[in-house]
Amino acid sequence: MSPMTTMSSFYNGMVSNDELDYYQARAGGPGMIITAVANVSDNGKGFEGELSAASDDMIPGLTKLAATIKQDSAKAILQIFHAGRKSNHQVLRGE
Ligand SMILES: Cc1cc2nc3c(=O)[nH]c(=O)nc-3n(C[C@H](O)[C@H](O)[C@H](O)COP(=O)(O)O)c2cc1C
Repeated sequence: MSPMTTMSSFYNGMVSNDELDYYQARAGGPGMIITAVANVSDNGKGFEGELSAASDDMIPGLTKLAATIKQDSAKAILQIFHAGRKSNHQVLRGE
């Protein structure tokens, strides 16, 4: 399954139950699922509701996400991302 952003993470990029439900509904179909983009650093966030892989705090949620995708033997790929100059002050809370 190609990566498709759903903009449904928490404000800080933590995985939400809505996201787990979204991947749960698709697990067992494709042999490989690539997630929505996940920013690799806090200043790389490009939009609200984006997944984050920017800190260790995100690991428990990302672990649940991986387990959800892999439950029926699919490969789970986290798509990493940095918005660069396409981000803005509003999304970065003034930074
Ligand atoms: C709602 C939506 C969200 C998408 N989000 C991402 C994304 O986060 N990362 C990405 O690389 N591509 C994203 N894409 C692009 C898709 O992964 C895919 O490349 C595109 O739909 C073209 O698919 P096709 O080459 O099979 O026609 C998104 C597409 C859609 C429709």
